[in-house]
Amino acid sequence: MSIAIMTSGGDAAGMNPAVKRFVDYSLQKGLKPYLIYDGLVGLLDGKIVEADKHAVSGILFRGGTVLRSSRSQRFREPEYRQKAYEELEKRGITKLIVVGGDGSFNAARVMCHEADIAVAGIPATIDNDIPCTDYCLGVDTALNVIREAIDGIRDTAASFRRTFVIETMGRDCGYLAAMSALTSGAEVCLIPEVPYDMNGITARLNAEITAGRLYSIAVVAEGVLEGRKLAEVLERETGMEARLTILGHIQRGGSPTVIDRRLAFEFAHTAVDALLDGEKSFVTVTKSLEVGIKNIDEVLSTKHVLDPYICKMVSTLCH
Ligand code: F6P
Repeated sequence: MSIAIMTSGGDAAGMNPAVKRFVDYSLQKGLKPYLIYDGLVGLLDGKIVEADKHAVSGILFRGGTVLRSSRSQRFREPEYRQKAYEELEKRGITKLIVVGGDGSFNAARVMCHEADIAVAGIPATIDNDIPCTDYCLGVDTALNVIREAIDGIRDTAASFRRTFVIETMGRDCGYLAAMSALTSGAEVCLIPEVPYDMNGITARLNAEITAGRLYSIAVVAEGVLEGRKLAEVLERETGMEARLTILGHIQRGGSPTVIDRRLAFEFAHTAVDALLDGEKSFVTVTKSLEVGIKNIDEVLSTKHVLDPYICKMVSTLCH
């Protein structure tokens, strides 16, 4: 049975470990895995190659996607899509995994409806804006890139009397900015999802400056306001010199973190299993980051057991 994987849309750290797990696990399951290069554009152009283990060795720790990616206008035209279906049919591919964001999942759904191809979506976008999942591949790595940048900026900020504005990516979603501000101790955070009161912010900063604040850090999501504008307002209203850092595409790079590698492994594994079980049109998701409380007696009297799910995953490496 032939099965294929492609990466599509904005690249995200974690795509490579997902591709590696896909190939390794498919071979283990007796499937014929195919790699589609250059995303949807490559699918239309037939850049589809059968993979063996060597094709994916040495990629797990690399950022971006070795399969490369694209955003395709041609795919919107039915006659071009027909060409894509022919390319898959030629190779007997009836199951397809698309690693990407909502635009890529829309394309996958069309393929399922029009050509009866079983499709699995693996959420991968630093924006973390896919519904029904807590995390998408690439998010944790991007957060760590931002954390390192803000820590560095704090060093210089603490040496001067200045305000530093840091603009993050995220498109229309404020997740990256919110998590970065909360975990880096920023004084100000603006995201599209929460209304802000600029007069209130500047009044608070002015009171803190009068009380001795020497510098401040403001994180702004690209989808709410240009960082340049925030820097101008804060400088004008507080009298403290402001500097702007637009982090840009550096947020999409970097070796995938442990969390992104683990998720990639589990998403790919789960996608292959579900496709083999006959599922035809789905997205892998994760929901686990809930915080609550437990009675201390219960905690101390319970034996720790390694999550059976982790044991199941590791069992593929035990024989
Ligand atoms: O969707 C991921 C993302 O990095 C967004 O955060 C950003 O707005 C956009 O892609 C940038 O797109 P491009 O790489 O096409 O400039």
